[in-house]
Amino acid sequence: MFDLLVKNAHLATPMGVGPKKGQTLGEITIMPGVNIGIAGGKIAYVGHDEPPAAQVLDAHGQLVTPGLVDCHTHLVFGGSRQNELALKLAGADYLEILAAGGGILSTVAATRAADFDELYSRASNFLDDMLAHGTTTVEAKSGYGLNLEDELKQLEVAAKLQSDHPMDIVSTFMGAHAVPPEYKDNADAYVDFVVNEMIPVIASKNLAEYCDIFCEAGVFDLEQNRRVLQAAKNAGLGVKMHANEINNLGGAVLAAELGASSAEHLIASNEADMGALAAAGTIAVLLPATSFYLGKDYAAAAKMVEKGIAIAIASDFNPGSSPNFNMQFAMTTACLKYRLHPAQVLTAATLNAACAIGRGSCKGTIEVGKDADLVVWNCPDLDYLFYRYGNNQVCHVIKSGKIIGAM
Ligand code: NIG
Ligand code: FE
Repeated sequence: MFDLLVKNAHLATPMGVGPKKGQTLGEITIMPGVNIGIAGGKIAYVGHDEPPAAQVLDAHGQLVTPGLVDCHTHLVFGGSRQNELALKLAGADYLEILAAGGGILSTVAATRAADFDELYSRASNFLDDMLAHGTTTVEAKSGYGLNLEDELKQLEVAAKLQSDHPMDIVSTFMGAHAVPPEYKDNADAYVDFVVNEMIPVIASKNLAEYCDIFCEAGVFDLEQNRRVLQAAKNAGLGVKMHANEINNLGGAVLAAELGASSAEHLIASNEADMGALAAAGTIAVLLPATSFYLGKDYAAAAKMVEKGIAIAIASDFNPGSSPNFNMQFAMTTACLKYRLHPAQVLTAATLNAACAIGRGSCKGTIEVGKDADLVVWNCPDLDYLFYRYGNNQVCHVIKSGKIIGAM
């Protein structure tokens, strides 16, 4: 007897546990009129029989996909940055705002000022809303504390949410997100602090699985990136890098050299960068909503696919460059601006995204044995999900085998 049977689903899902590259990115399984049995929070049956179940949810032939995996967010933060809109319209550049002490640093001030409960309830509300938009697993980066106490506060908020909230959360330590005001003009000394004082404590408390860093002109240079990420690796953390977002400092090549799980943004990447990422098997996490919001170029996603890189797509939800966690928007933007097909984008936002955060074996596809995270959409087929945009097309979200809510 199953706990739940989702019947008459128009199923669209990638298959397998490893990242899809090249031609295989778009090779998904489509099965109309299928029934999905769930037991103990796992997918236990996919087929055309109608086994008995304690609860039945009729999908009425609508599209059912794996829950979306948002593998790059800056979930926990204080304050908001609507003031930057007028600055942007007046021509101010993202890095200029940061260099003037605004941008990320203004969110650092607001995050330091916020107490644990405030950050927790903010982030918890975001998670509710993300689930309602079809996201069932998120990665959450710290990086708005930039001192030990406030980085720990952010990571502890994420850890408590992981135990309290239905969303699955994978934590990343990003203490090297910007140079804090206390170390202005002395980034090397801050890097010493990250390496010697922060990484060991965070690793020993098991508060993060990954370490990320902003490799960018005027933020952290290549050598500083190498020191932080090597220390993270030595402490047993996986590594990620915000690389080639605005300028190309050689971050993608370093990410490949260090065997990073992922390199993220990659807008300013060249052929050599792509070759290095492909050879290393580093996943390219692409963030189309950030290109949209910053008015920047779009990463050369189709070319990366051609080169054999596994690409993933995420929201980059944060208060500055991407104040939007709706993966549906990121996916449609990926389709239109990266010129990728819906099947390719679906894989990038589910299985490949799960692989980018070490969850390929349990998430990202609808197959027997995987976690029962799925979305029933108000869409007759996959193309429809990408064709409509701007509204929430979720009908039901099933998280760990439980129906979260009907919209
Ligand atoms: O991925 N580029 C660095 N970090 C974020 C933005 C953070 C912020 O602006 O608060 C990003 O775009
Ligand atoms: Fe980011």
